[in-house]
Amino acid sequence: MNIGIIVHSKTGTTLAFGELIAQALRDKGHNADIVRVETDNSSPAGGSEEFTITSDCDCSKFDAVIVGSPVWAFSPSPIIMACIQQLQNISGKKVLPIATMGFPFTWMGGTRTIKMISRAVENKGASVLPGRVIPKLFHNYQKLMEQAAAEISDYFGGSAG
Ligand SMILES: Cc1cc2nc3c(=O)[nH]c(=O)nc-3n(C[C@H](O)[C@H](O)[C@H](O)COP(=O)(O)O)c2cc1C
Repeated sequence: MNIGIIVHSKTGTTLAFGELIAQALRDKGHNADIVRVETDNSSPAGGSEEFTITSDCDCSKFDAVIVGSPVWAFSPSPIIMACIQQLQNISGKKVLPIATMGFPFTWMGGTRTIKMISRAVENKGASVLPGRVIPKLFHNYQKLMEQAAAEISDYFGGSAG
């Protein structure tokens, strides 16, 4: 399968998680492309700033998509939500949401983030696979990301077909 990993990451954690997933998928014979979501404003970090998504939002070349975001204020970043609104050719495809978060418990914004991403992509006609949240504080989150990457790659099967 051709799998797109569309990820917003300000400080690199969610991107690192996406890269681990990409490697796990490639190890199983899939193609995995990472699209880091960029904006025309280098510093949007809340909800109020104006920004435009400058990354390629066309998913036509992907069979399935992983959408990733940091948790910001108990929610997905406004940047990934804006990106989801602009995704093209996502209808009918499987989408798996991922998130990373600073706080130690997934109920401190992680679960809500996965739900909000899931609802947004469902509204675009995608079918949602179970999402994964990585909490950082008090966790060996590198290990959690590696384990989750292996499990996520299992959702997509073991061959390139
Ligand atoms: C503006 C902002 C708001 C944040 N809000 C939360 C939050 O509500 N809950 C939480 O657990 N972490 C929060 N964090 C921490 C990030 O979710 C966490 O560090 C994440 O792994 C960063 O991902 P990134 O490196 O891909 O940008 C916030 C970080 C920023 C910059």
